[in-house]
Amino acid sequence: MKRTRWAPWRAGRGTAGRWVAGGVLVCLVGIGAFLGIAYRSGLPPVSPPKVETFPAETLARGAALAAIGDCIVCHTADGGVPYAGGRALATPFGTLYSTNITPDPETGIGTWSTDAFKRAMRDGVSRDGSHLYPALPYDHYRQVHDGDLDAIYAFLMTRAPVVAPARANDLIFPLGFRPLLAGWKLLFLHQEEFTPRPDRDAAWNRGAYLAEGLGHCSGCHSPRNLAGAEETGTKAYSGGLAEGWAAPALNGSSPAAVPWTADSLFTYLRTGVDGRHGAAAGPMGPVVHGLSRAPEADVRAIATYIASLSADRPGTAPKTPALPERTAEAARVNPAGASLFAGACAGCHEDGAPMMTQGRPGLSTVTALQLDRPDNAIRAILQGFHAPTGPAGPAMPPFAASLTDTQVADLAAYLRSRFSDRPAWTALETAAATVRQEESQP
Ligand code: HEC
Ligand code: HEC
Ligand code: HEC
Repeated sequence: MKRTRWAPWRAGRGTAGRWVAGGVLVCLVGIGAFLGIAYRSGLPPVSPPKVETFPAETLARGAALAAIGDCIVCHTADGGVPYAGGRALATPFGTLYSTNITPDPETGIGTWSTDAFKRAMRDGVSRDGSHLYPALPYDHYRQVHDGDLDAIYAFLMTRAPVVAPARANDLIFPLGFRPLLAGWKLLFLHQEEFTPRPDRDAAWNRGAYLAEGLGHCSGCHSPRNLAGAEETGTKAYSGGLAEGWAAPALNGSSPAAVPWTADSLFTYLRTGVDGRHGAAAGPMGPVVHGLSRAPEADVRAIATYIASLSADRPGTAPKTPALPERTAEAARVNPAGASLFAGACAGCHEDGAPMMTQGRPGLSTVTALQLDRPDNAIRAILQGFHAPTGPAGPAMPPFAASLTDTQVADLAAYLRSRFSDRPAWTALETAAATVRQEESQP
């Protein structure tokens, strides 16, 4: 089974020590907090609510909100039934499995009351009183209003029940001991229900509510501390990691070649591709897939809010597509990369190629080539690219089987020097080998 790496902070290389340190920190606080707040009582089971009890309007709203919350992404195993859980989420602490959130009374949440559901979503406590891992992003979901959680509850309770027992997690000692999570919560779980800002308009506030709450955008786009909690304040949205991909900064330090606007964000978030910025690859694909099914006004609101985060970015004139001199220089320095590009990539990506005349983003505007880390470019080359929504034009084939690590490194170095002014990437061959190895993990 392919594992989803739930570890937005997972740096991939050389950070094991930091995580052990973080783990120890959490343990110490956890033990301290143990006697205090570790114990949460179980809530009584209820008989599963009848489908007819929920108005159609509530169900439709719940479906849209669940799409923005990405519940299906984490709660569906590859090839599995939606919401029945069982997806493996690799973390620096071991593997966690998502659980069944269909209304099956024995193995799902069929006997959960709305109160039990809201407690899980806000406080990360299961119906039986045990603490849940923050892989369920309750630090975000606790900002969601009551009525919206009721609607999501109604939506889930009206799915077809599926019998799917939880799989045992495989975490390093002692983190399998759930009461320790009380310590993590004591330190990091302080978010309040969202309150609108009076100095902003309704669209901005709606966008902020959705992005900070259900959308949990900063869960991937912000860096994380040693204990895996998001950095806040000025570090919020300054870029993070998700499943080995870099989630670019969305604040004033955005590395995008062309500054994002609310309109281009809307197009990107709604369709997965914006002609002046690139396409949504990797873990951003499922996010876009969810947003493509959400109400259009909500996606516009999210775009308005996200655009405001980088409003202080020093304006950059749109870069001209790579100049001929630049292309010649890149080829002179790296002839191997240039000829690989001409043979394997130019048919789609070179100026004037059929794909480029359809208004697709040119590589000079793609953020993957502007980032400090080469991971996204390498992953795109090895895995290829499928549009996350609809029949949105050509797909990029995976090159993992046809290119060696040296060739991937040559190509990445060539792309960087041809399409970006930023410093050259280093240790590319090792990076390619690491990505390849991570992807081949069972
Ligand atoms: C990033 C991945 C992720 C997303 C997104 C996510 N979940 Fe989860 N969820 C998990 C994991 C993992 C668990 C199990 C945690 C544990 O075992 O401690 C879980 C547990 C739960 C539980 C507790 C189930 C139980 O039996 O204790 C509920 C309820 C739940 N999720 C509902 C939702 C809803 C509703 C959404 C969307 C709004 C959602 N989740 C989105 C990963 C996720
Ligand atoms: C599961 C992790 C994850 C979540 C959640 C997530 N993103 Fe992303 N996002 C990524 C990754 C990874 C990329 C880089 C994709 C690529 O290289 O093609 C990305 C790319 C983007 C980009 C393009 C940035 C650029 O300069 O090219 C935007 C804009 C964006 N995300 C907005 C959002 C918004 C808004 C939300 C919340 C609704 C969100 N993301 C939630 C992981 C995530
Ligand atoms: C069949 C057409 C096709 C071929 C061949 C192709 N690509 Fe792509 N590539 C795409 C499409 C489609 C995208 C998505 C972005 C877009 O729409 O422009 C993309 C995106 C990318 C991205 C950006 C990924 C991101 O995270 O945003 C990079 C980098 C890239 N390609 C490099 C290459 C390299 C290097 C080669 C040759 C080894 C190659 N491509 C061959 C079609 C192709």
